[in-house]
Parts: sequence; structure tokens; C-alpha cells
Amino acid sequence: MAIKRPEYILAIDQGTTGSRAVLFNQNARRVASTAIPLTPINPQVGWEEQSPEAIWRTTKNAITDTMIEAGIQAQSIQAIGIASQRESTIVWNRQTGQPIYNAIIWSSTQSQTIADQVKADGYEELIREKTGLPLSAYFSATKIRWILDHVKGAQAAAEKGDLLFGTVDSWLVWQLSDRQSHITDISNASRTMLFNIRTRTWDEELLKIFNIPKNMLPEVTKSNGQIATTGPLRFFGAEVPIAAVIGDQNAGLIGQLGFQAGTVKTTYGSGAFLLLNTGDQLINSNHDLISTIAYQINDKPVYALEGSVFTAGSAIRWLNDGLNLIDEVPDSWEAAEKSTSDDELYVVPAFAGLGAPYWDPQARGSVFGITRGTNKNDFIKATVQSIAYQIADILRTMREDSGAQLAAIKVDGSVSRNPYLMQFQADITGLTIDRSMYEDTTPLGAAFLAGLAIGYWESPEALAGLSSRGREFTPQMSVQRRKELKKGWKTAIQATSYFSS
Ligand code: G3P
Repeated sequence: MAIKRPEYILAIDQGTTGSRAVLFNQNARRVASTAIPLTPINPQVGWEEQSPEAIWRTTKNAITDTMIEAGIQAQSIQAIGIASQRESTIVWNRQTGQPIYNAIIWSSTQSQTIADQVKADGYEELIREKTGLPLSAYFSATKIRWILDHVKGAQAAAEKGDLLFGTVDSWLVWQLSDRQSHITDISNASRTMLFNIRTRTWDEELLKIFNIPKNMLPEVTKSNGQIATTGPLRFFGAEVPIAAVIGDQNAGLIGQLGFQAGTVKTTYGSGAFLLLNTGDQLINSNHDLISTIAYQINDKPVYALEGSVFTAGSAIRWLNDGLNLIDEVPDSWEAAEKSTSDDELYVVPAFAGLGAPYWDPQARGSVFGITRGTNKNDFIKATVQSIAYQIADILRTMREDSGAQLAAIKVDGSVSRNPYLMQFQADITGLTIDRSMYEDTTPLGAAFLAGLAIGYWESPEALAGLSSRGREFTPQMSVQRRKELKKGWKTAIQATSYFSS
């Protein structure tokens, strides 16, 4: 298909490890892109922070370098779509624009005692009912409270209206709009633990529980539409519509064209994030999965069930930098293929506890089934397999909670490039694995939403013709063998929890 228009959509993908800008043409092909890494800040064990200025600077530089690479000016950009890490919390001064503390990153546990106190006060059920979220330091509310508690004078300044809160999307839009727009989209708002996903408003009762002044909060918008405009003065040089804003994992669902209820996607990175589109149904999980708003592009929000595996790609990195068993991550693919053992060996990589559906924060990693014949390749294979087992357990609970009849999982992310893992994932779930041709569908999802908002692409249906086929992995394992292996894995998980308690 010929390119019809010379104009482009610019996608920004601001994630935990870095900032990226990608320019797409009307055939949804990448014309140019730049990724710039971010340096993590770890003041204490378990504290994960970043510099808000560095988040903005790397984003700005990624945009500039991408435009230079493509040889275009801002005027050639029809619209911007922003996907960003969710939950991470920034508080800044409304007048000076200065952050009053580092960005506290989603994975940081520094506000755990606040979460514990709110739990002890008996608010867990109320919070789940209103927000769909388990009471956890993962979400923004306890992080805002932490900043207001730890920065001198912050609570009073917030009450006076001098401070603004935002997740990373808010911060970037505020900067790009020359500090004119203080907004967040509904998908990001639903991760703050202050947003009622039933009434779709900031919740007064929750604000009271966390003692957070409402005037700090951004206005909540849909995930696409006329959200904001770039300010021409300070950076961009032109007024370009910011036509989409969405959480990065949710953007991945869009990039995979997961508009239909019943679509499930997994992005395999350091951790792995599963989202099941549940359409207009807000499903309460019986297994502590997260109920959340996936996106909103018309009058009704689209809900999702979400589960995350804390340790996925990071288990492979551990084989490299922790155990020195492999030189590079791709070596794990070959080693797993080379292992000929049929012994049942299970590595449970509970380095940071176990997430859904086991929920055991105290759990620590374990290995079961070692024999005298176990070799290095077998150990590597078992570690790779552990990722697939954890995903399979979340999928099982998603099916039980939603009643969805799943036939396939759409996947992307760096770790999904591992063909051994993908085949084993198909085998252990009995589902087809539909791997995107793109390693990462997040920027594409942000671009799709922005393009749909301005009529660059006509409809979600029209996007289907733009996607190229990736690779499919179909189950090859016998039902009997699958049962045996899953039973062994279950026992390994139970023993791990028992040992840790
Ligand atoms: O919920 C956290 C998630 O949005 C982070 O994603 O890809 O930036 O690590 P990522």
C-alpha cells in the first residue's frame, strides 16, 4: 500500500527504564525512532526513584533526535500519542514548575508503612470496591502521602493550592503544553487508588482517607480526543494536538488491536503484564487480580482484568549477571533447547515475593527436583519455563473470574523473542501464542489512539489491515504431560510458600 500522506504521528513511550519517541507513517510503519535510557535512583533498599527533570529531558531529546533522523519539522506531525509508565508519582510546584521530590516509581516500596496503616484502619475492602485495586504501595495514593509527609511544608503548600500531582503522563503533557494543561487520562487515573472506577470521578472519601487535597489532582480525560496542544514557545515550535494519553501496558493492548472483549495480551519484559479486555463489564476478581479501566475512546470505558508476574525477564538476567550461567540473554534460548532431560525440575523465581494469584510477599525463590544428572542447561530451561508457568496460573484465574473462552494470547516484549519460551507457553497453556511482529507494541498503541482521534486512521477496524503477521506457536504437548507438569509446578509453589512462612 502506498503512503497517502506525508504527515506523521509521533508516539512517546516513557517507561521505567527509558524514554522513547517513534514516528509512524500512515501505513503504521516506523519512520524513525530514538530511545534514551534513564538512570535509576535508589536512596535505600526497596526505594525506586527517578529524576522528573531527567524523565522530561530524555523525552524531549528523544523527540528532537527522532525528528532530526526523519528530517522533519514539528509541522509535519499531525498528532502526538503518549504512553507512559503507570502509578509513578510526581509532585511539583504550580508556579515554578519545580518538582518537590524525585518521581517515586511504581515498584518502590518506601510507602509500605502507609499502606499497612490504611489496611490496619480497615479500608482494604472499601478501596477494592471503589478502585478495583488491592491496597498496595504499588499505586500512587500512598506515594503522594509519603511525599507530603516527608517534604517540609508540603502538606500546607498542597492545601494552599501551590502543588500539583501527576503520574508521568500528566508531567509530560504539562511540559509539552508549556505548562497549560494539567490532565491525566482515565487509564492512568484508575491506577492512583484515588479514582472511583464505577463513578469515574476522583473519590472524596478516598481523598479524605489519604488526606490528599483535591486541588492537586489533574483533570481526567478520555484516552484520546482533543486532550491538549503543544505550546510553541518553550520547545516544540508548533501547535500540535496531543490526541492520546494512556498507560503503557494498556497501550500495548491497543497496539495488539485488542479492542474486542475477550482479547488477552501479555507483554514480557523484566516483569510480565497480562491484560484481559472485559469490555463494558467491570469484573471483580476472586483471585486478587486487578480490575481496571483499560482505556476510553468513546462514551463508555473499556474495563480489563490485569495480573502481573513480578519476575520474568529479570530471572533470565539473573542467570547472566547473578549466576554467570549464560553470557547473553539469547544464550538461554539455546541452552533450554539443548536440555534433553525429562526430569521435572522447577525453579520458582520468587525474588521479590509472589504476585497474582499466589500473593505471598514473604516468599523467596526455590528450586525443586535436582538430581545428580541435572546440568546447567536443565537449570536454565527450568528458569525459562518458570515464566510460562506463572503466566499460565494468571490466565487460569482470569478465565475463572471472567468466564472468557480464550483461544489465543497476543504477546510482545523483549522476552517474547525467545522461541523456546513461546513454544513452552503454548504447550503449558494449551493456547495459541500469537506473537506480534513488533518487539514492543506500546508506541504503536499510542500512535493508533492519536491517529484515530484526528481521523488519520478511520476506525479500529481500518487498523487491522495495517498490521503484519508475526509468528504463531501452537500447542504440541500431550494433555497428560501438561497435567503432570502443572501438578509439579503447583507443588513447587506450595512448598515455596510453606518454606517462606
Ligand atoms: O505498572 C507499571 C508499568 O506501567 C511499567 O511498565 O514497561 O515501564 O516497566 P514499564
